[in-house]
Amino acid sequence: MEISLEGKVALVTGVGPNIGSGLALALAKYGAKVACNDVSDDSIKACIARIERNGGEAMAAPGDVTDEEVVKGYIQSVLDRWGRLDIVVNNAALLGGRGVLDESAETFEKMVKVSALGTFLNTKHGGRAMAERGIKGSIICVSSSNGWNGSAGVIAYAFHKGGVNNFVRAAAMDLAPYGIRVNGITPTAPNPDNPELLAERARQGLGPGGVLVTGPGPGLGGPTGDEEWRRPSRWTGQRPPMVPMGTTGTPTDLGHAVAWLCSDYARLITGTDLVVDGGARAKNFAYFPAAPEDLAGPLPLITLDDTPPFEG
Ligand SMILES: NC(=O)c1ccc[n+]([C@@H]2O[C@H](COP(=O)([O-])OP(=O)(O)OC[C@H]3O[C@@H](n4cnc5c(N)ncnc54)[C@H](O)[C@@H]3O)[C@@H](O)[C@H]2O)c1
Repeated sequence: MEISLEGKVALVTGVGPNIGSGLALALAKYGAKVACNDVSDDSIKACIARIERNGGEAMAAPGDVTDEEVVKGYIQSVLDRWGRLDIVVNNAALLGGRGVLDESAETFEKMVKVSALGTFLNTKHGGRAMAERGIKGSIICVSSSNGWNGSAGVIAYAFHKGGVNNFVRAAAMDLAPYGIRVNGITPTAPNPDNPELLAERARQGLGPGGVLVTGPGPGLGGPTGDEEWRRPSRWTGQRPPMVPMGTTGTPTDLGHAVAWLCSDYARLITGTDLVVDGGARAKNFAYFPAAPEDLAGPLPLITLDDTPPFEG
């Protein structure tokens, strides 16, 4: 009973070197052919190279997920090349931003647009490509813990990820008559594990999470002003352990979960959200787990990338 995506074709949006590339690699390692979308040609090239050196098959599907003609165009190019589409992963998004007192209308609109229109248009035209061909496919929307709970400093991100969560349920209803499933997946600050990205961050003097190794991390969102009326938005002292299993995992953990959710074993799972975070979201606000070093920890990670570590 092996999970296999052999014979399936996937489209992953926003294949930057962190989560998008990890999900694309996972789908390829489980046997799918993968079309890689991004606005960055460099990210697409790097993702295709990563898939190919790991024995998979990939193609480029470049372009802006918010432009309907562009979306139709790259989906058509996937159909022209491979004749079908079984899986769409709506991963492209703009992260970061600022809190409600400081966010600009321009940034708010831009961030919401990428997530809202990108997720809608790729689900619309991906769903049509499936329905027209009688393909009982799977559409995944990448959410975030910020779509379920509040954090200071990320008002646009919180707004669009919250929208993604109910989009999943409504689109699942629209597509259920065709046997097409729509589900969300919720990561919580996974630890990057793409060897190329880790090497790049090391070269820049950054830690694996992209935070300066020498100084305090900037946390989520932009800085607040220094007017007299300002109040701090977050605790800056030492934090107690926050994750029940000691780790929120990696993009590889997300990739295994997405591959299973896109497999035929998950044929009746639709309109739901799969949380891959070591129990972080389930935790009661007043409960702090024991220190990670005192925990048994999860099972060892089943790795998917055979790339030897890149030189830092
Ligand atoms: N990194 C985290 O800690 C974290 C946590 C929870 C959820 N997520 C979600 O996971 C997904 C990936 O996160 P990531 O950390 O890999 O982000 P990332 O910024 O590294 O990658 C996002 C990619 O989307 C692309 N993109 C942006 N706008 C686009 C557009 N209009 N058209 C096509 N591509 C576009 C970017 O070029 C980039 O490569 C996002 O949906 C994010 O919200 C991330």
